[in-house]
Amino acid sequence: MPIEVESPEEMGYSTIQYNLAESSVRDRTIGELRIDLSNVLMNYGHHRGLPELQEAICEGSNILKSEDVLVTAGAAQALYLVATTLLDPEDHLIVVRPNYGTNLETPRGIRCAMTVTDLSFESGFQPDIDQIQKAIRPNTKLISITHPHNPTGVFVSQSTIESLIQLSEKSGCYLLIDETYRHLNFKTPLLPYFAEKSNRVISVSSLSKAFGAPGIRIGWIISQDTKLQHDLLAAKEQMIISNSVVDEYIALQIFLKKEKLLKEVHSTLKTNYQIVEEWLQTNNDFFEWVTPDAGAVVFPRIKESIYVDFSKFYDRLYSHYHTVVGGGYWFEQNQRYMRIGFGYPTAQELRTGLENVMRCVMDCKII
Ligand SMILES: Cc1ncc(COP(=O)(O)O)c(C=O)c1O
Repeated sequence: MPIEVESPEEMGYSTIQYNLAESSVRDRTIGELRIDLSNVLMNYGHHRGLPELQEAICEGSNILKSEDVLVTAGAAQALYLVATTLLDPEDHLIVVRPNYGTNLETPRGIRCAMTVTDLSFESGFQPDIDQIQKAIRPNTKLISITHPHNPTGVFVSQSTIESLIQLSEKSGCYLLIDETYRHLNFKTPLLPYFAEKSNRVISVSSLSKAFGAPGIRIGWIISQDTKLQHDLLAAKEQMIISNSVVDEYIALQIFLKKEKLLKEVHSTLKTNYQIVEEWLQTNNDFFEWVTPDAGAVVFPRIKESIYVDFSKFYDRLYSHYHTVVGGGYWFEQNQRYMRIGFGYPTAQELRTGLENVMRCVMDCKII
């Protein structure tokens, strides 16, 4: 499996002045949230997760119960647990790409058969249901999608999700919906977890993207399938026994402040997306894009008629302009695409970062 040599965590945050590479909002401090850790007992935690946290995660649902929730160390561990629990080398899965690295790399590591179906710009990054249906085999165990989607911020249409659920129920496989970006719904009301709809659906999410707390490593898996929950718990116990009780305590405090935190976050996203949209419109001779429905990212591409030397572009953007975006190749896509994160930078950083992207396009343009 490749390591993420180009992620800001590897490059060092202090080396990047204009960080447009993040898919999350700005990180918060424990002090800013006024969280007092002095009475947290450092015992082993509950294996399924702190019960109050399980409840907070499914709060508001008339269908889900706390036992449908397994707390994990981030969505990344949740996805790893799902793949390693469900897939053996003789199995098959269908992955809609671009997808988060773990959703591709863990099955590759298991060496099971995998059909990748690519989203296209031309179809508004909507999964092709016919292609997925045709790819189903008797040994298909899993279909894997992301909603809201990373790196495009696009919602999979409700009718496509319904069709995918029916397909999973009919063929007896699971539908994994990576909902890590669900709370970044700055344009629409929050949707219920898709795991409410069927016990064939597995929802995964975390506190990393919308709450400024990726470092506490708290995520979760939601499934109404009790046998699957049992197997996932057994796998989790083998990996970490329980989560960090400190992380779980902080997560619970964040949930208690959820409404206020999300209100601020959505307002920042609205303002910052406006900046990106204006910049894209100003530069629409160079860029084309699909408008995101949610999230903190947009995935524009440089038009095919514009010749850019990509062997220089991303390096120069970083070394000369101290600006980073997520190059298309991060997502196994053409280099003409780039993921621009607008939730993490301040409005001023975003404006300058975007200007730098355009300057760098001009520097690397082949006439
Ligand atoms: C679609 C998706 N799923 C999962 C993750 C992992 O998130 P976490 O920090 O919760 O492990 C990411 C992180 O970038 C992601 O983009």
